Amino acid sequence: MTATEQQAEGRARKPEPFAAPKGIPEYLPPESAGFSHVRDTLAGAAARAGYGHIELPVFEDTGLFARGVGESTDVVSKEMYTFADRGGRSVTLRPEGTAGVVRSVIEHNLDKQGLPVKLRYAGPFFRYERPQAGRYRQLQQVGVEAIGIDDPALDAEVIAIADEGFRALGLTGYRLELTSLGDAACRPRYRELLQEYLAGLDLDEPTRERAAINPLRVLDDKRPEVRAAMADAPLLMDHLSAEAAEHHAAVLTHLDDLGVAYTPNPRMVRGLDYYTKTTFEFVHDGLGAQSGIGGGGRYDGLMGTLGGPDLSGVGFGIGVDRTLLACGVEGVQPWSVARAEVFGVPLGEDARRRLVVIAARLRAQGVRVDLSYGNRGLKGAMKSADRSGARFALVLGARDLESGTIGLKDLVSGDQQDVPLDGVIDAVVTAVAAEVG
Ligand code: HAM
Repeated sequence: MTATEQQAEGRARKPEPFAAPKGIPEYLPPESAGFSHVRDTLAGAAARAGYGHIELPVFEDTGLFARGVGESTDVVSKEMYTFADRGGRSVTLRPEGTAGVVRSVIEHNLDKQGLPVKLRYAGPFFRYERPQAGRYRQLQQVGVEAIGIDDPALDAEVIAIADEGFRALGLTGYRLELTSLGDAACRPRYRELLQEYLAGLDLDEPTRERAAINPLRVLDDKRPEVRAAMADAPLLMDHLSAEAAEHHAAVLTHLDDLGVAYTPNPRMVRGLDYYTKTTFEFVHDGLGAQSGIGGGGRYDGLMGTLGGPDLSGVGFGIGVDRTLLACGVEGVQPWSVARAEVFGVPLGEDARRRLVVIAARLRAQGVRVDLSYGNRGLKGAMKSADRSGARFALVLGARDLESGTIGLKDLVSGDQQDVPLDGVIDAVVTAVAAEVG
């Protein structure tokens, strides 16, 4: 076929529509109202504790994640979206936020401006995982990082912020699992102990290989035969250094003071290598296999590993997608899906000109207003009003214009009153405020 023939055929045939990449949830109205509410509520809890907003690059030097998150982790070895840019540099779509925050703190010397450096972030992260319910290739997190002070009260603060965020959404069906992964003083010795224990087991080859890279990973192997074999494995919690044990006890005391309940999980293993001391996960049992709605912990070596000063850090990342799913499972919906509070229905051109202005004035007063466009007729326009979720409709026709009034209809009760056109802004603002109040 010649190029001209191909073009002609292309014109005749409608092109196939595109689909979004696999494993990426899209949030469309009206459900997207829930997504933004969850994200903003979680970020709000962090803002109230003095965490400043940081907007990070969506992609970074690949080496940052390889070194920061750990080459042996699944996240780095199997799940990264890595590509060469047009200048031949290897870059990676961020799989998580901590490495980027630490890089930024070092690069901009934020630690010289008073400690701790407290930052919060929200946005998409990318992991090439096998998509399933609650596990996506583009996932959304709200995260915080507090860098530069090794104070157990800060660990407790970070945990309490996440807990407060979940509570503010009305969630109750989650629990906080907590452990300590020790420090540089006790981890190497414990690793040896665990390796000795593992050497005495009859493990299959892949598990043996995993154990050689990171023996801790075998602790959370879900297979019953491995679980049984690991029942008597030594646990790091029983081999903590005096300092790590003291730190952990202090974190627990603060959580008790705060009334934040926790479940010790000495077998917790996180998918990222930088954790030390306090390590935690928020788990929601209503979500099936992907039950982790948030996780985090302390990472006392990361600043140093990434070439910065030897400063400690602690933080969390909460999965916005999964938290939204948890709201669905618990049937909590503390947000409104209404796009507008007031919907304008003009009947005729003169009425439209007038309503366009009324809508603009109301919006300037903070009222959410939408209008019917095109010549829809009263019935079609009222249908749009209902669909918008608005509580009130403003109906304006030629006869109203003559009498200097406008119809204000309560779409829930069906009551309609005529209000003077020159007092419509006040009347609507009052009606909407009464509704909200
Ligand atoms: P993470 O546990 O890898 O930690 O991820 C945090 C949360 O992101 C998870 O608990 C989960 O809710 C959500 N998440 C992770 N992967 C997916 C996915 N494929 N689909 C949907 N949701 C997902 C971190 O990323 C650390 N940077 C957290 C942190 C901050 N630690 C210290 N500071």
